[in-house]
Parts: sequence; C-alpha cells; structure tokens
Amino acid sequence: MKIGAIELPAPYGVAPMAGMTDTAFRRLVKRHGGCGLVVTEMVSSEGLVRGIDRTLEYAEYTEEERPVSVQIFGGDPAKMAAAATIVEGMGADIVDVNMGCPVPKIAKHNAGCSLMREPEHAASVIRAMTRAVKIPVTVKMRAGWSDRERNAPTLAKMVEDAGAAAVTIHGRTAEQSYSGFADWDLVSRIARDLSIPVIGSGDCVEPEHIVERMKTGVSGVLVGRGVLRNPWILAQAADLGAGRPMRAVTRHERGQFLLDYIDLLLGEGVNEVEGFRHVAPGTNLTGQPDVGTRVARGHERWVINKLRALCSWYSKGLEGGSHVRVRVNSAERIADLRGIVEEFFLAGSVPA
Ligand SMILES: Cc1cc2nc3c(=O)[nH]c(=O)nc-3n(C[C@H](O)[C@H](O)[C@H](O)COP(=O)(O)O)c2cc1C
Repeated sequence: MKIGAIELPAPYGVAPMAGMTDTAFRRLVKRHGGCGLVVTEMVSSEGLVRGIDRTLEYAEYTEEERPVSVQIFGGDPAKMAAAATIVEGMGADIVDVNMGCPVPKIAKHNAGCSLMREPEHAASVIRAMTRAVKIPVTVKMRAGWSDRERNAPTLAKMVEDAGAAAVTIHGRTAEQSYSGFADWDLVSRIARDLSIPVIGSGDCVEPEHIVERMKTGVSGVLVGRGVLRNPWILAQAADLGAGRPMRAVTRHERGQFLLDYIDLLLGEGVNEVEGFRHVAPGTNLTGQPDVGTRVARGHERWVINKLRALCSWYSKGLEGGSHVRVRVNSAERIADLRGIVEEFFLAGSVPA
C-alpha cells in the first residue's frame, strides 16, 4: 500500500493509542515484524505550535520506526497547518488528523470527533494542512458522531477532495465510544467509494480477524487493543496472509517483551543521542534535555505507571493474568516489576 509517495512495507499497522503507543512500544512491535506503519499517540496542535516540551516529546520517534505517522489534534485550520509544518520539519513521513477522539476534553475544543459534526470546517482544516506541507496528510475518523449522524462516507469524500492522501475509519460512533461493534460494512462501502487508500480499524483481536478484514476491500488495517494484548499479532497476520504457519509465541518471549519495554523506557531521554531521535526544528536537544525534568518528576515512577497501563491489556486472557495485574499494580520499584515479570513469565519456561 502507498500513502502519497510513502510505500508501506506491509498493509497492517499499529493504531494510535493515547498513553500506550509511545516510541518504546512502537519500536518493540516493529522489531517483531509484520508492521507496515506506526502512528504516534495524538499530539496537541496547540502544544506543538507553542513549543511545549511535553507535547514535543509525544511527537518524537526513532529512525527504526519508519514509516511513521504523527497524529495531531485540533480544530483551527491555521494552527493545524502550522503544527503540520512542525511535524514535517521533524522529518515524519505522514501527518494524521484525529477526527475520532470522543473524549469531552478534546471534543469540546472543536477537535477530535466533534470535527465530524462540522464537515465543511473539517475539510477546511485538511485543505489548510495539505497546502502547508508536502508530506501526506491523512485523517482518522469514526463512523460519525452518533447513530443519527453516521456521516463518515460523506466526510471521507470531502477530505479526499481537500487533498487527504488516505483515511482510516474506526466503524463506531463517538456516542458508542468502545461499546458494540465496529461497522465494517460501512468501512467497506467507503473503501469502494474513494480513490485514496481506506484503512479499517476496530475489533481485530486475533490475527485471523486482520486477514479476514483485508478481504473487505480496505487497503490496510490498523490494530489497536489487539496489539496491546499481543504485540506479535501483526507478524502472525502476515504469516497467515502469506499462507505460512502462524508463528507461536512462547511465555518466555512474552515476558522478555515486558523486560525489553522496561529497559527502553528507562533509557528514554537518557541514552538517546542527537540525530537518533527526531525533534522539532529549533528545539535545543543535546541528547539529555529531559533527564533533569523527568528524574525530578520521577522517571522510575513514570516507567512503573507505563508498565501498569500496558499490563492491564497485556495480561488479559492469560492464565493467572488477574493475579499478575494485582501484583504489578502494587509494585513500587523497578526491581520488583522485573521480579514479577520474571516469576510469572520466565520461571520454568524454556527460551525459544
Ligand atoms: C487506549 C486507547 C487509546 C486510543 N487513542 C487514540 C488516539 O489517540 N487517536 C486515535 O485516532 N484513536 C485512538 N484510539 C482508537 C484506536 O486507534 C482504534 O481505532 C480503536 O481502538 C479501534 O481499534 P481496536 O478495536 O483494534 O482497538 C485509542 C484506543 C484505545 C483503546
């Protein structure tokens, strides 16, 4: 699949997930194969334009993640165009616009899914951005705001006309949030109507689901919660899609993933050297800009919280999963976290 001039090595990718798809997680998923695209957590256009450090961190990525799409949110065409220029300056391959977030904090600022309620305005945001940058501008939207306003087919066409290079559709309404099921018939209809690539998202929790959904006429699939539960899901879907037996993942490998995640998170902002991470033009990055602030805010505490967030998904459906969740949630030190992971996943298991 191609988005503008960007060739994706595989049609499956990691969907943007706030709080979850940080650069460490994206790198690890990518290393396990089958992943053609990663999308950052959503980044505030306002924060980018104002140069707020915390916001800029969300947009950072590493070279091994390419092709990488940075997702931004906001509702002001001029600010979104300026933010897209900053993203382009950071060297990102694609800039994606969030038109799916149902959270009131975002939606009330005329951003996220509330943009779907004002299609003309939403299209003007995309038009301003496509005029400002050369990299592809893409849009991620829901089926609509509510059951009475399922306007994704119309809006998708409008953003295509405004210059969008691809759209991703999560086939639920904002009102549904995550209840019910994603409407893949709607996604498939939009894929038939548009000339640009249409990517589907929603409810692919097993590798087989991804392969099945590819048959609906979409150009690709972005997987969210399924990757948090099983970071190998894209590689396994690639196996199935190519007619190979699906790779098995050992308990040892699952434990090692968490240990690697801890190590990468601990190294965030510490070992990264200039040129490796991509930062906004004008940012004074010496390789250690975050250490002071992050350590002061408790870098280890941040890592522990990140592990807790991932484990709440990662341990779902595993035998003894709820037990490991309780233990991870009460761990207060990195060494305790490592011990829990080693005991639960590695003890007695044979490395693959
Ligand atoms: C924890 C979480 C955070 C999310 N954050 C974002 C986000 O920042 N931007 C976005 O476009 N979608 C976001 N989504 C939606 C996902 O990208 C995806 O479209 C949705 O979860 C449906 O796919 P799934 O069933 O494979 O999870 C988020 C979903 C989850 C579960």
